[in-house]
Amino acid sequence: GLKKKEAQIIVVGLDNSGKTTILNRLKPDNEQRHDIVPTIGFTVEQFQTKSLKFTAFDMSGQGRYRNLWEAYYQDCNGIVFVIDSCDRLRLAVAKDELDLLLENEHIRNRRIPILFFANKMDKRDAMSSVKCSAVLGLEEIRDKPWHICASNALTGEGLDEGLSWFADQVK
Ligand code: GTP
Ligand code: MG
Repeated sequence: GLKKKEAQIIVVGLDNSGKTTILNRLKPDNEQRHDIVPTIGFTVEQFQTKSLKFTAFDMSGQGRYRNLWEAYYQDCNGIVFVIDSCDRLRLAVAKDELDLLLENEHIRNRRIPILFFANKMDKRDAMSSVKCSAVLGLEEIRDKPWHICASNALTGEGLDEGLSWFADQVK
């Protein structure tokens, strides 16, 4: 049959934002884990949508591992940036990391799509995706396609919307 198109993506964002939980939820039910622990360094994960076969670099968000992110920028066709929409205190740290990413030599001059998940939308104190977008200054990203979705990685809500936007961009 027809071979699915492939996309290589890097999944970044602060520790505890939900990156591994999101990727886990995108896998078939029988491959999902119930014991997700903080990522050490990074792992490589695979999942598929109707049209695309994804290879995802699931990076650790812990401070001491964040310098690993940039090693994978060059070879990826897309970026997923996950935000804990309840973590108001560290949204400024997330913005600093995003700004560093946008200035990186392998990102700066490319029209690489960036999908943001304002994750943990199920929590009562979650900020809206509009609010997260404003605090992160996403409107200032003019040279790359970007999109933000509220998500709940525990139920999967919002993930398909994000992924289908992504599939259109990576074509
Ligand atoms: P690092 O690997 O350390 O960078 O963290 P991570 O971004 O991969 O976070 P991880 O997926 O390990 O999730 C951190 C915690 O948040 C876990 O206890 C998850 O169950 C929880 N979590 C993830 N997504 C959601 C969500 O949408 N809602 C709620 N309520 N909890 C979530
Ligand atoms: Mg993780």
